[in-house]
Amino acid sequence: MASRAETGEAIAAAYAARHSMRAMPAHARASILERVASLLGERREEAARIIALEAAKPLKYALAEVDRTVQTYKFAAEEAKRLYGETIPLDAAPGGEGRLAYTVREPLGVIGAITPFNFPLNLVAHKVGPAVAAGNTVVLKPASQTPLSAYLIADLFHEAGLPSGALNVVTGAGSVVGNAIVEDDRVAMVTFTGSPEVGKALRAKAGLKRVTLELGSNSALIIDRGIDVEKIIPRCVMGAFSNQGQVCISLQRIYVHDDVYERFVEGMRLAVMGLKIGNPLEKDTDVSAMIAPVETERALLWIGEALESGARLIAGGKLREGVLEPTVLVDTAEDMKVNCMELFAPVVNIGKVSSMDEAIAAVNDSRFGLQAGIFTNDIGLALRAADELHVGGVIINDIPTYRVDHMPYGGVKESGTGREGVKYAVQEMTEMKLIVVNRQI
Ligand code: SIN
Repeated sequence: MASRAETGEAIAAAYAARHSMRAMPAHARASILERVASLLGERREEAARIIALEAAKPLKYALAEVDRTVQTYKFAAEEAKRLYGETIPLDAAPGGEGRLAYTVREPLGVIGAITPFNFPLNLVAHKVGPAVAAGNTVVLKPASQTPLSAYLIADLFHEAGLPSGALNVVTGAGSVVGNAIVEDDRVAMVTFTGSPEVGKALRAKAGLKRVTLELGSNSALIIDRGIDVEKIIPRCVMGAFSNQGQVCISLQRIYVHDDVYERFVEGMRLAVMGLKIGNPLEKDTDVSAMIAPVETERALLWIGEALESGARLIAGGKLREGVLEPTVLVDTAEDMKVNCMELFAPVVNIGKVSSMDEAIAAVNDSRFGLQAGIFTNDIGLALRAADELHVGGVIINDIPTYRVDHMPYGGVKESGTGREGVKYAVQEMTEMKLIVVNRQI
């Protein structure tokens, strides 16, 4: 639990190292990132076990996270070599004749990275990878529940030859370490993934720093008439229950056309009953404990409130040896917490709609807007949904819980500002500089 003063020491180290990182050639930054990717690949099983132990993420999902993290660092290595600028035809304006103009992208300096517990390895990679690719230094505060994955990555960077001071991991409370990072003038940018409440508070304190916020969501999926629901149920189950629903794009709301509604609900009930609950270290476990008992109690409370107000339980809804059973609700109202707040729990709501207009309106009736999905055989409807859904990403013929690590990722409304996905994070973590050469002197 670092103190404010210790956090200040880490910031001082990052601040001092910013010159050597800025001076490091792109190929050297790329080599370090490639080496981290390959070292992590060699320690795949160990890294997955750390994630499973500190976050209770079932091993198969922890292994998938390690594999994605390797990809993220590989993408970062590639992006280190693609920091392009452009030439500007100044003579397009009177007074621009005889001048050459071009832009370059420069590192910002010290990046403060504050990361969540739900992807303790890969969401660290989404901040540290682009920061290093762009020639910045980093002060990283991992989630207090999951610091060990971050320490492993720090070891790998050290082994890969990152200069001293370029990456500093500081563990502790958000109110101490997080605040010290956000309030320090030597930190040029803060990149945060977490709750909207903390994100807003952080932005209010950040002054003129650049801020990227990846916040929450109550992500939704639309299922049109004519869809073969049996085919898509395994994806829906994965989207709603992987990592116990503790994913920012977890599938929380499903709006199903009434032609296929009954079949879909019954299919979901049967599929959910087949999920294996238990020890995250066992290879075939699907669902394990949430990050903390207090979060499980919150989810149970919201389920209870929904049931008292007329919702019906199709599956789950109880605690089994400390694990919240994967839960399916129907007949929920839009203003119930299970619908309108971010659940971040293994709970999904299925609603019936009689038209796709109704479904699109229901998806948009949210304070959040990260990603949304639609299954439809109608290309016209798919493109209309792409146009009308007010979110950062529309996923056609798949669940909103879809992400590969180089795609732009981020939200609108209370889901945040700015984009991750390595290339886009590199843009956020660099400053454009213009150079104008007067050739007529
Ligand atoms: C998140 O929870 O924001 C990250 C989701 C992912 O990377 O799959």
